[in-house]
Amino acid sequence: MVRFADFDSRGYRMVDVRTGYGQWVGTYEQTVEDAMDVALLEDLVEPSWGSVRRAVDLGCGTGRTGAWLRSRGVASVDGVDLTPEMLGVARSRGVHDRLVEADVVATGLSGGAYDLVVACLIDEHLADLGPLYAEAGRLGEPGALFVLVVFHPHFIMASGMPTHFTDGSGESVAITTHVHLLSEHVMAGVGAGWSLVEMREGVVDERWLAVKPKWERFRGHPVSAALVWRRQGWSVSV
Ligand SMILES: C[S@@+](CC[C@H](N)C(=O)[O-])C[C@H]1O[C@@H](n2cnc3c(N)ncnc32)[C@H](O)[C@@H]1O
Repeated sequence: MVRFADFDSRGYRMVDVRTGYGQWVGTYEQTVEDAMDVALLEDLVEPSWGSVRRAVDLGCGTGRTGAWLRSRGVASVDGVDLTPEMLGVARSRGVHDRLVEADVVATGLSGGAYDLVVACLIDEHLADLGPLYAEAGRLGEPGALFVLVVFHPHFIMASGMPTHFTDGSGESVAITTHVHLLSEHVMAGVGAGWSLVEMREGVVDERWLAVKPKWERFRGHPVSAALVWRRQGWSVSV
């Protein structure tokens, strides 16, 4: 198990998810870059977005991902998030059929109800990935896809940077950040009965440097990753 504290080069004060996103909500969408997640989603061969009947977005935040899914033809999107303020923005956006305030590992939603489960940019906030993959597996119908976009562990380690925001007083504040090696994803996914069907990694390229010129020293480093899993009808213990 890799500990973020061993790589932390910023030393920002760290707050829990609900506190952090409750304060970040007003500026969140101006600071999160589409290059992190949307660029990877756009490159995926699967899913065939327009064929998706019912999706659930775990850690839906302000509904950025939900809006993108709807723009791609996904017929229906439910959202789950722990932070009421983020859900408030998602609600005003009006792209979800249902929004639920809950932990992604215990959503309370009906099992086997979705042909697509999505989780974008939330894995670093979870201490353990097993319960996320298990809950996604419970929610997905047989043959369902699970699409995750994650903050790349290499980038967190190389930069020493947690997920963070600037609060109203100008202080940089970190939100609880965990490092999950890609092998942790593989073992958690396989253990929950998922099969990996596609994976992409996004690197710091010209598009990134146009918005983050200070990242020149990270040119070519992987910064995010997308994994696409398919639900099988079995599970194994690992
Ligand atoms: C970086 S934001 C991502 C939001 C959205 N998926 C996007 O890509 O814009 C992370 C979100 O995950 C939520 N979150 C983090 N841990 C969570 C948990 N255990 N259960 C539910 N939501 C969680 C936070 O409240 C926040 O809204």
